Amino acid sequence: MTAVDRLVPWTVDEGSSRARALFVDRFGTDPDGVWSAPGRVNLIGEHTDYNDGLCLPIALPHRTYAAVRLRDDDRVRLVSAQESGDPREVDLADVGPGTVDGWPAYVVGVAWALRQAGHAVGGFDVAVDSCVPYGAGLSSSAALESSVAVALDALHDLRLGRDDAGRSTLTTLCVRAENEIAGAPTGGMDQAASLRSRAGHALLLDCLDGAVRHVPFDLAAEGLVLLVVDTRAEHALVDGQYAARRASCEAAAARLGLPSLRALADDARGWAWALDALAGSPDADVEVPRVRHVATEIGRVRDLVALLDAGRVRDVGPLLDASHESLRVDYTVSCRELDLAVAAARSAGALGARMTGGGFGGSAIALVEAADVERVELAVAAAFADAGLSAPGFLVATAEAAAS
Ligand code: GLA
Repeated sequence: MTAVDRLVPWTVDEGSSRARALFVDRFGTDPDGVWSAPGRVNLIGEHTDYNDGLCLPIALPHRTYAAVRLRDDDRVRLVSAQESGDPREVDLADVGPGTVDGWPAYVVGVAWALRQAGHAVGGFDVAVDSCVPYGAGLSSSAALESSVAVALDALHDLRLGRDDAGRSTLTTLCVRAENEIAGAPTGGMDQAASLRSRAGHALLLDCLDGAVRHVPFDLAAEGLVLLVVDTRAEHALVDGQYAARRASCEAAAARLGLPSLRALADDARGWAWALDALAGSPDADVEVPRVRHVATEIGRVRDLVALLDAGRVRDVGPLLDASHESLRVDYTVSCRELDLAVAAARSAGALGARMTGGGFGGSAIALVEAADVERVELAVAAAFADAGLSAPGFLVATAEAAAS
């Protein structure tokens, strides 16, 4: 018996077999193929993507698998191993903003976006299985979108999945699916991580122009582990809170006469002038700390990448800690469970720790000596038990390949 709950990823063979078997069982025929795409964890650069900023995710070994068979009509039939009952059915002609509920929106949204972009995509049957934990802030939705995107790309011979330029296009289409069909006003970090990452590397994504740089990221060589703590905290109003953060950033940028808050990170004057400029505004209480977070967080991405480039991954802990404080105090997207996970991990010897992803629940990351992993896991689990919280889950994050 293990003392803590470790979410071990499936091998690609195992995941593919599961999705294929589900397809055969539910649709009574073989799929045309199986495609898969990873969840992601962000090292640093949080709530920067929709501000045209920088972020630094890695693709996880935990993937979503989609077995797909094309149809010769416009129907989409969907089954998931995580759901029983009859297949869901959607006609592509009926898909539009607000017309599809739940997880099928992420699937048919991708087909809709491809059609909007002029690709002749028709109906299909799809069976989905996943070892990306749902609701953990590890982008299970982007993994689902991306697995379907590469499936439809291959089956329709669109050739977008073949190179990074095409994958950048697929990323944009998956973001449209999420924003317009699933109705979540997220930025583009998650889809880019799932579609454009490279094994052994973190993805430095510049959301101003979509440019990427693959930064070598090999913790094992340094005797380190990136431990992810899924707090399993469920928080209401997440969508509204996220949208509110995004809206106040856009309002502040407009008030400052900037195209986006990214401009502050490239401003020769620095960013502090912006806080003074906002001080008299009616929403200063909210906008000043939001702006401070975005400007300093983009700076921390640059600092962390500089350390990685210099081979100094052991020195990144204070940047992770500072990011968490900024998200907790200035951006107010942390919560009790995330703060507890971060504090317990640090007390047990983590070199640095922070919440990751959108916040309000979800996951935290801790950079840990390989020899200390179990001690940190046990300490975090004990802290949750002492606080009367349900047990968190753990996973070890390594930088893996993109959707294929
Ligand atoms: C969620 C969104 C991303 C990003 C993060 C915060 O994961 O999907 O686009 O905004 O929150 O960095």
